[in-house]
Amino acid sequence: MYRTMVTHILWKLVLSTSSALVAFGCWKLGERVWHTLRSSLRTLPGPRGTSWLYGNLKDTFSAENSVLHEQWVGQYGTTLKYKGLFFSDRLFTMDTRALNHVLTHSSDYQKPSQVRYNLARIVGEGVLFVEGAQHRQQRRIMNPAFGPAQIRTLTDIFFSKSIKLRDVWSTMTVSEHAARIDVMPWLSKMTLDVIGLAGFNYEFNALNATDTPNELNQAFSVMFSASQQISILPKLKAWIPLLRWIPSDRDRKIDAAQNTMGRIGSQLLHNAKAAVISSLSAKKGDFIEKSSLQGRDLLGLLVRANMATDIPENQRLSDEDVLAQVPTFLVAGHETTSMATTWALYALCLRPDIQTKLREELLTVETETPSMDELVALPYLEAVVRETLRLHAPVPSTIRIAMKDDILPVDTPFTDKYGVVHNGIKISKGDPIFIPILAINRSEAIWGTDAKEFNPDRWASLPEATSQVPGVWGHLMTFLGGPRACIGYRFSLVEYVCRSLPFYFHR
Ligand code: HEM
Repeated sequence: MYRTMVTHILWKLVLSTSSALVAFGCWKLGERVWHTLRSSLRTLPGPRGTSWLYGNLKDTFSAENSVLHEQWVGQYGTTLKYKGLFFSDRLFTMDTRALNHVLTHSSDYQKPSQVRYNLARIVGEGVLFVEGAQHRQQRRIMNPAFGPAQIRTLTDIFFSKSIKLRDVWSTMTVSEHAARIDVMPWLSKMTLDVIGLAGFNYEFNALNATDTPNELNQAFSVMFSASQQISILPKLKAWIPLLRWIPSDRDRKIDAAQNTMGRIGSQLLHNAKAAVISSLSAKKGDFIEKSSLQGRDLLGLLVRANMATDIPENQRLSDEDVLAQVPTFLVAGHETTSMATTWALYALCLRPDIQTKLREELLTVETETPSMDELVALPYLEAVVRETLRLHAPVPSTIRIAMKDDILPVDTPFTDKYGVVHNGIKISKGDPIFIPILAINRSEAIWGTDAKEFNPDRWASLPEATSQVPGVWGHLMTFLGGPRACIGYRFSLVEYVCRSLPFYFHR
């Protein structure tokens, strides 16, 4: 009797929970359909969705690079719409003026809540995650740590890890002059070592092949592989908060990795604070001037900047905020930089003539650890770096959502599907806007007819249209633009050029 009652109650619970979930799902779906029907995007031309669930998303994921986007632009013009999840409309525009408006009005065009949920799970609530006033506050305190002067002080770390990798690779030769090396995992290990030391004064020792990966390395691998998985439950959880209570193996692993990162991060933060305090007492100073601070790793600099007496109390970051930057820097600065170098090696392998020219320039440098000034004086190296980051941008796209109704100004008027010409794109609150980083970097309209070719010489004289690209660096979208542009772009560029020398110096 008692068992029957318990079973009955359990069944009721399961049924009512499932009904609540189905009702919530229907409501969310209804909300989407309603938004799609009333959004101005519905009048734009564009491809038909190929799946009711994924719209055109699977097509774009399986297409190589920005090929499908370029096809759409050829067919429908520079401004169009395509289908996202549950058949919703997304704006796609190659118009640099419209994109500039979106990027410079970062409070009106924020990351979608689903993206933020995933970011919070993987990297925590650091500068990649926060929006609005909180984002401005975090950037204000963090920007100096990524300034040119600070990054210069890190070059010996970049060089020492490059030399280490070169020496590891030297032992892998299969004959006197040849080797077959899968470079990507090695470059990934090297970047992890670099970001560990330069970011937090932490030694990952990833390049020491004989060591078993340390605790933080393992936690980071779990986080990183979780962020790469494309499966339906995590996607639904991002959309429907009610589903988040459903336990999963992935969630358990992420929770455990987060705990490890939190524990080690707290220790690193504690060490960074202790170092600042001891450097203060060594100087016998009573207060810290922001301008007079010197330090090396990013976390140390951030802690110093945050403790500076010329920053008002109410503008400082909490320990929790500072801690959230540890996984943020790891995830944002690790694979991106190693992918960029992998692409550079690939591009150079396909063009031995460019390789020879670059090698000749690098061999004019007398040492394998030159100063920044010596590096900056290498124009062909700079052109190769720019060209790789143009043609093979490691982050090919991103997305924003409109926080209010708006009109995006355009350079090129466009025609809607009813034949009406428009001089601005009408945006409704909640419309998703795709930012086509790679497609802009490879656009023939901007870069000329050889836009898809690897040609470092193009940087000697760029087409006029490139000056319209709203990127923070080099007329490129690679590091994005506006207040949410990549904070680590100088770090990554200097790491990138420092990497090339030890390899070429191996005469
Ligand atoms: C080639 C290397 C890199 C590329 C291509 C790259 C690209 C990008 C892009 C496209 C964004 C904007 C993402 C979005 O808002 O949707 C971004 C943001 C960011 N990146 Fe990088 N990044 C690189 C290296 C780094 C490094 C080395 C670090 C740190 C050490 C870093 C830290 C960040 C952070 C913290 C943000 C968030 C900035 C904000 O929202 O205010 N990145 N990066």
